[in-house]
Amino acid sequence: MLKHKPVLLSETLELLNIKSDGIYVDCTLGGAGHSEKILEKLTTGKLYCLEQDKQAIIYAKVILNKFHNYEIIATNFRHLKKELQLRNILQVDGIIYDLGVSSPQLDEAERGFSYHQDGPLDMRMDQKQTLSAEVIVNNWSFEDIVNILWIYGEEKFARTIARAIVKYRENSKIITTLQLVDIVKSALPMKILKKAKHPARKTFQALRIAVNDELDSLRVSLKQSLQLLKSKGVLVVISFHSLEDRIVKTLFKEQVVSKIDPLLSKLPMSIKWDPIFELLTKKVVSPCEQEIQENSRARSAKLRAIIKF
Ligand SMILES: C[S@@+](CC[C@H](N)C(=O)[O-])C[C@H]1O[C@@H](n2cnc3c(N)ncnc32)[C@H](O)[C@@H]1O
Repeated sequence: MLKHKPVLLSETLELLNIKSDGIYVDCTLGGAGHSEKILEKLTTGKLYCLEQDKQAIIYAKVILNKFHNYEIIATNFRHLKKELQLRNILQVDGIIYDLGVSSPQLDEAERGFSYHQDGPLDMRMDQKQTLSAEVIVNNWSFEDIVNILWIYGEEKFARTIARAIVKYRENSKIITTLQLVDIVKSALPMKILKKAKHPARKTFQALRIAVNDELDSLRVSLKQSLQLLKSKGVLVVISFHSLEDRIVKTLFKEQVVSKIDPLLSKLPMSIKWDPIFELLTKKVVSPCEQEIQENSRARSAKLRAIIKF
């Protein structure tokens, strides 16, 4: 199995500023790249690792075998707060999200995430769920497919591609990744097909986000993370496309401005709440040229971090 290379690792560790006795959470365990380095810095502290992909968990357990002060929680990170509460953890020193898919997920054809290799149109991170990319392309309405391609894929040719999908499925089921790649290609003009970026890239991104409800999970979970931070606690988020980054950027910005309490806004004198967070990254952090050279998947990574006073 292909090992996942952690992205922006030293930057993440520096920002988290790990205390050896602290409580930390890795919301996206994946290949355990970030978790392993956090655990190396903990003595009496503990790391909680969340992951919804059972195959990733099996692999990560091997990597983390040499440590004892961690617990893997097999769940979607939208349940972060509830899962920690069940363990009597109400506040933590630091939380990391390294979003998106891991190298093994992308590189194993049978997971269906790759437009380079033929495999079933799956794309589920959580193998227990029933919604897959195959269900979407074969059953969802033309309008719903247009919407996800337009919103989650930021695909200008959403209507043309959706039309091609609907026309194709009138005669046969769409069951493989390369079948879908061919359908997308058949719908796009030559000038797009000639571009360096893969023509099905945006369609695959859109389907992946829809299958895994990625953006809603992120919104829900980040809000919980902000509540869970202790004083001086740090939240680090690494995202890989503009839709994710926009969610992180907007939410972080909202935390660092003074707010007028909406419940008290009718009073003659307004009551302002001063922010309890500060941005640790005034500008988004991107990988250096060397990291991009060594790991092409780092290219689109963007890191933002926030600290509680
Ligand atoms: C980019 S990988 C993380 C890699 C890891 N930081 C490393 O260095 O090895 C992202 C992982 O997060 C998991 N993931 C994505 N969204 C999730 C969610 N909502 N809940 C739980 N796990 C999620 C994916 O299954 C994947 O294994």
